[in-house]
Amino acid sequence: MHPLAAVPLATVPADLLAAAQAAFDHAYAPYSGFRVGAALRGADGGIDAGANVENASYGLSRCAEQSAIQALATRGERAFTEVVVVADADPPATPCGACRQVLAEFGPTATVWLVSPHGAWRTSVDVLLPAGFVLLR
Ligand code: THU
Repeated sequence: MHPLAAVPLATVPADLLAAAQAAFDHAYAPYSGFRVGAALRGADGGIDAGANVENASYGLSRCAEQSAIQALATRGERAFTEVVVVADADPPATPCGACRQVLAEFGPTATVWLVSPHGAWRTSVDVLLPAGFVLLR
């Protein structure tokens, strides 16, 4: 089964989409030119956003999803239920392999919404990362 289900844009949570789009607008991606914004809904209902922040030393660049997870954890939250990722890509930008592992730490079954000017899609962290690495049960 294909891991991404196309959905109407109207089904994407509007508050998370707005936060992810604002982060997308603030992305720092002068090297790749590929901006990404992400916004998570914490288990407490709070929203944490992140953008990709690149660096002249390319390997130090940080993905949007990981920036958002850092914000979530920094305010003491340890779980999220859903995440919206915004990028201008067709096919849509799915979280990279490293981001899937980082998302799974705090949202192993979270819903993942992917949005681009070309459409919206729904999937989940466990579908994107089956059998991810786990130490704590
Ligand atoms: N990027 C993200 O922010 N999230 C992903 O899941 C995939 C890739 C960023 C990293 C880099 O700044 C740019 O997109 C191009 O790879």
